[in-house]
Amino acid sequence: MEPLQAVKGMRDILPEEAELWRFVENQAIELFKLFGYKEIRTPILEKTELFVRGIGDATDIVEKEMYTFSDSKGRSYSLRPEATASIIRAFIQNQLNQSQDRKFFLIGPMFRHERPQKGRYRQFHQINVEAFGIENSMIDAEIMFMATEFLRRIGIKKDVELEINTLGCSLCRPKFKEILKDYLVKFEGELCPDCVRRIHKNPLRCFDCKVQTCKDTLKTGPIIYNYICKDCETHFKQVMEYLSLLGVDFKINPYMVRGLDYYVRTAFEIVTAHLGAQNAVGGGGRYDGLMKDLGGPDLPGIGFALGMERIILLLEEVKLNSNNPDIYLILLGEKPRKKGFLIAQDLRKEGFKVEMDYEERSLKSQMRTADKSKAPVALIIGEDELNQGVAQIKLMNNGLQRIIELNNLAVELKTLLR
Ligand code: HAM
Repeated sequence: MEPLQAVKGMRDILPEEAELWRFVENQAIELFKLFGYKEIRTPILEKTELFVRGIGDATDIVEKEMYTFSDSKGRSYSLRPEATASIIRAFIQNQLNQSQDRKFFLIGPMFRHERPQKGRYRQFHQINVEAFGIENSMIDAEIMFMATEFLRRIGIKKDVELEINTLGCSLCRPKFKEILKDYLVKFEGELCPDCVRRIHKNPLRCFDCKVQTCKDTLKTGPIIYNYICKDCETHFKQVMEYLSLLGVDFKINPYMVRGLDYYVRTAFEIVTAHLGAQNAVGGGGRYDGLMKDLGGPDLPGIGFALGMERIILLLEEVKLNSNNPDIYLILLGEKPRKKGFLIAQDLRKEGFKVEMDYEERSLKSQMRTADKSKAPVALIIGEDELNQGVAQIKLMNNGLQRIIELNNLAVELKTLLR
């Protein structure tokens, strides 16, 4: 008999990988608690209407990706494709507005019927964070800071980029939609059938299109920033100011609209070049008005979700490189070799991974081994350098070289490598 297989697009997490999942989850929980977030768990099945009203009926998720079925009484249910709508439903139903709880996190499986590929599954898992009732732009920046800080803590730092945009609000966005619609109608002949349909249903959705001619058409079209109202502009500027204050690097992406209809003002994504087509590690934004639309109090909201499988894939990529030394010592001559031998021990005490050439070989061949080691930095010490109490520091990715004081090595290397 043929052995049975898991459902397409759904995978088993085997013990070795599960351990990594546990580590990531624990790190998330520990960090989120520092910012006052509490755990919430909701059922994986909800009435279909919740997602239709919450996410929007013109979105890909609702139009084609939900696992929806009817029970024997003809009631329609869907496996949750995301957690925001469910958390809001739970907040309203349990009248949590009367408690002090307004910041939540939820870790768990989500379901979307998409074409499976690397980093894209039909059952996947999200680390989800939501904050209700805070209008101030401080929370927008703080939540993005928290997301990037989390990735940094688990060992993903230089590998991701934060992209932000503003999507306007219910006052200014309709005007932009009209302008975009008027623009796109003129190019109807060049757009894919999906986008032609979107023009009239919700033209903003065209920004999600992966078809190159549609992308090109949008690149020369209007961008929302030029049409937002004064309040939205002030909010966006403040968000950027706070991000800078917190030392968070970001890039504005005026074409990023996110795949869910509930966003207003701030939208953001954390993207990477390491995962092929599935470049979003996470995404989120503000959704003022959603809670009211779902029948609850008129509280603003903001949140994000990170894709667990994508984090794990990234961690594995990062881990592959993590056995590389941080620093490779190239030592030329007897005295520099002895001094370098000690420097290696000192730097290791400071937590750097240090490798050196133990043999007396030429600069050229030591350089070759340094290159092969994939250390980002080489330190070169010869007789002259030793006499002056310095080393040459070479950045291996771009070949830049400069002088660095030996008695200040650890401090300088820390700012360079961490
Ligand atoms: P989303 O952008 O649809 O946002 O999903 C967030 C993240 O979930 C994505 O960036 C990706 O890492 C992961 N993800 C999505 N679909 C898949 C899939 N098929 N396979 C693997 N990973 C996937 C939301 O879901 C919003 N609810 C986020 C949010 C929370 N906004 C405000 N609060």
